[in-house]
Amino acid sequence: MTLPVLHPFHASRVSPVSTQNVSIDLGDRSYDIAIGPGLLRNPATFAACPKAAQALVVTNTTVSPLYADRVVAAISPLYKQVQVLALPDGEQYKDGATLNLIYDRLLGNTADRKTVLYALGGGVVGDMTGFAAACYMRGVPFVQVPTTLLAQVDSSVGGKTAINHPLGKNMIGAFYQPQLVVADLDTLNTLPERELSAGLAEIIKYGPIADMAFFDWIEANIAGLRARDPALLATAVRRSCEIKAWVVAQDEKEGGLRAILNFGHTFGHAIEAGLGYGEWLHGEGVGCGMVMAAHLSQRLGHVDEAFVARLTRLVQAAGLPIVGPDLGADRYLQLMRGDKKSEGGDIKFVLIGDAPLAAGGKGPGAPCMKGAPESVVREVLAACVG
Ligand SMILES: NC(=O)c1ccc[n+]([C@@H]2O[C@H](COP(=O)([O-])OP(=O)(O)OC[C@H]3O[C@@H](n4cnc5c(N)ncnc54)[C@H](O)[C@@H]3O)[C@@H](O)[C@H]2O)c1
Ligand SMILES: [Zn+2]
Repeated sequence: MTLPVLHPFHASRVSPVSTQNVSIDLGDRSYDIAIGPGLLRNPATFAACPKAAQALVVTNTTVSPLYADRVVAAISPLYKQVQVLALPDGEQYKDGATLNLIYDRLLGNTADRKTVLYALGGGVVGDMTGFAAACYMRGVPFVQVPTTLLAQVDSSVGGKTAINHPLGKNMIGAFYQPQLVVADLDTLNTLPERELSAGLAEIIKYGPIADMAFFDWIEANIAGLRARDPALLATAVRRSCEIKAWVVAQDEKEGGLRAILNFGHTFGHAIEAGLGYGEWLHGEGVGCGMVMAAHLSQRLGHVDEAFVARLTRLVQAAGLPIVGPDLGADRYLQLMRGDKKSEGGDIKFVLIGDAPLAAGGKGPGAPCMKGAPESVVREVLAACVG
């Protein structure tokens, strides 16, 4: 098998603000990510989606009034009946009770096993709808229609689906790939500023783990990205999807490499869970978590202080927190031991730099997964928590 290639990023190659496709190569589960403006208004966007008697557009009470009509109009030619289900909005509803509302509607409507689910919304709607699609009648097709920056650059791509459990985030889930991802850049215009920043966290993440040329570009364009310059957003979404597709094609079910996408997430998930879901946004936890993980990488000799300072400046310039909430070091450690990457209670971190610099490590752009002495993690927490 030939490994997929990630073509180098050229700062001069700003993406056109017209539709572009990124393919994700997973054999018979391969699919396209369509990126561009105006996609939801164009029935041609969805022309290749599976046909069936019924489709259900799962969304939430915030996104439904903004975009559900466009999607229903665009997909109506494919189905006899299209219904919309608007779930309550918020990470706190990414749970079993809310998931059941999807099954209630499907069963109440005698939806058969060809019924197609459309996930219209951010990562919460995407993760829940994907999980519902994986489970309903042991699997029905679904399409991701991400409307947040975070969902367009990360959660809608790669087939991870889940709900939260009171004892842990994303603990109940499945790997289940969509048929298509439609990232309409126009939807980003209604996104609250705080949510835009949260999406930038996942974009920044791709630099230190895979592509420092992209990191340089984000640094140079962070103000324009926050100002929602269409060409800059198109470029950032496309490059992020290319990197994610490249990682997922090599390791669909996170046997190893895919875990690098969790850079910043070990600390970030602890913040999210420690404060209670919904207090900090996922992307905010990731932003601050990347700063903490960079400090840890530096203390273990994988990167120098200049890199930590650079990453911290960029996270801050993206409008994200760089100081963690004071949960107490013991609570942080307890929460991180419950992380999915932990093995037998040993916390595994995604570090920047594949090895200590003194041992020939490559530094930023190359990651590794590693444990760390508890005393060093405590030092990091002391340095990074307010
Ligand atoms: N599956 C994965 O691989 C993966 C990866 C990263 C994150 N996630 C998950 O994604 C979730 C976070 O996703 P998110 O940041 O998109 O949060 P979200 O889904 O809660 O959306 C954020 C907010 O924006 C609103 N919104 C969505 N689109 C809008 C639009 N176009 N205009 C105005 N408001 C809009 C939503 O209603 C919500 O209030 C977390 O649960 C996280 O665990 C999953
Ligand atoms: Zn994330």
